[in-house]
Amino acid sequence: MSSHGPAQKMTARAGGPLKGIAHVPGDKSISHRSLILGALAVGETRVSGLLEGQDVLDTAKAMAAFGAEVTRHGEGDWSIHGVGVGGFAEPEDVIDCGNSGTGVRLVMGAMATMPITATFTGDASLRSRPMGRVTDPLALFGARAVGRDGGKLPMTIVGAADPVPVDYVTPMASAQVKSAVLLAGLNAPGKTVVTERSATRDHTERMLRGFGAEVVTEQTGEGYRITLTGRPELKPQTIAVPRDPSSAAFPVCAALIVPGSDVLVPNIGLNPTRAGLFTTLREMGADLSYENEREEGGEPVADLRARFSPDMKGIEVPAERAPSMIDEYPILSVVASFAEGSTYMPGVHELRVKESDRIDAMAVGLRACGVEVDETEDSFTVHGLGAGGVPGGATAAARLDHRIAMSFLICGMAAKQPVSVDDAGPIATSFPIFEALMRELGATLLRPNA
Ligand code: S3P
Repeated sequence: MSSHGPAQKMTARAGGPLKGIAHVPGDKSISHRSLILGALAVGETRVSGLLEGQDVLDTAKAMAAFGAEVTRHGEGDWSIHGVGVGGFAEPEDVIDCGNSGTGVRLVMGAMATMPITATFTGDASLRSRPMGRVTDPLALFGARAVGRDGGKLPMTIVGAADPVPVDYVTPMASAQVKSAVLLAGLNAPGKTVVTERSATRDHTERMLRGFGAEVVTEQTGEGYRITLTGRPELKPQTIAVPRDPSSAAFPVCAALIVPGSDVLVPNIGLNPTRAGLFTTLREMGADLSYENEREEGGEPVADLRARFSPDMKGIEVPAERAPSMIDEYPILSVVASFAEGSTYMPGVHELRVKESDRIDAMAVGLRACGVEVDETEDSFTVHGLGAGGVPGGATAAARLDHRIAMSFLICGMAAKQPVSVDDAGPIATSFPIFEALMRELGATLLRPNA
């Protein structure tokens, strides 16, 4: 979808404590990959716990447009009848990836080494985001890209009819870029190598192995070197999508800053490439425990228990931790506003090219709520006001960014005065049950225009 309709203003205000059990939806990263790898396998892949957020639904539509048979059987329960590596059909129409950078970049990678042409577009947020980071390495395989304004959507990719494997070092820490290269490498003969200087989420590598591809990860002086052997036959899988740690972050952080709260968030994957926020919160003094720690599908999993934490302290978040918590800086900056002292977050320039410029979006909104924030191109610092210390009383612009909208609503649950967002619509891209789930825990969320 290119837009989600009229803006939906939403307001959060302080009320009683948050209590209860929060079952957050399936992991967005793994949901996209389940659909794409399912479409590239030969036969039927079954998926349970798929996130039915708009981003993932748009990827499901894209896979159908490339010729896979994608069927919804019930809530979160889907099947994909794949066409095999190299088997995509040329889509008849433009592929609209809505708000999803992950969707468009991974799908571009997957089709770039097949002899087909596809045109991609998205909403205003996605059309403003850089695609050159993906089309540059795809050009090395032999694919051609023509986009607007030096590499933005709408963009047409002419896939390589005769692809060659590549050896590529990603210039920025990005799992999307790494994944696009690996997915393109599937239909190139020989070995495709991608090296990243710091480890980003490794779901593509893990899942490719699960589908039967040969993927080897080695740690070298340069970083992590991932080698994929091209032209495998991917075997269909049965996938149970784990719950999303990036969605869990919202009820967890809300519980830490709303007085009297005690919330359990069960079954959260703690893959080290995703769990940086929880480590950081514990370093700040959050009362956050991992209960019932176990392994599921080769991934560490736990139930998270978060309780109101009035004594959190600001810290310096190590720059090298950024890739493992890149989507969590907006909500961390809200928690930091309710901690004593300053929280310094360096090494985060990638936040400037997410669904919005997330440093600017948080800085402007938090200042309007009475919090002092400093920023550089690559860092930001939040000067905390302690538990209960944030004045609030502002309306933040969500900028078509789900995580900005949710972060300010959580802020409003603990601030002295209500906090509104001008448009809560984008929340449906990743966490469609956010409003119902937070209300169930006891949060006060109002829709002034409804
Ligand atoms: C994702 C990678 C990250 C992240 C995004 C999901 C993925 O983006 O921000 O929400 O599923 O690969 P980058 O690769 O741009 O860091």
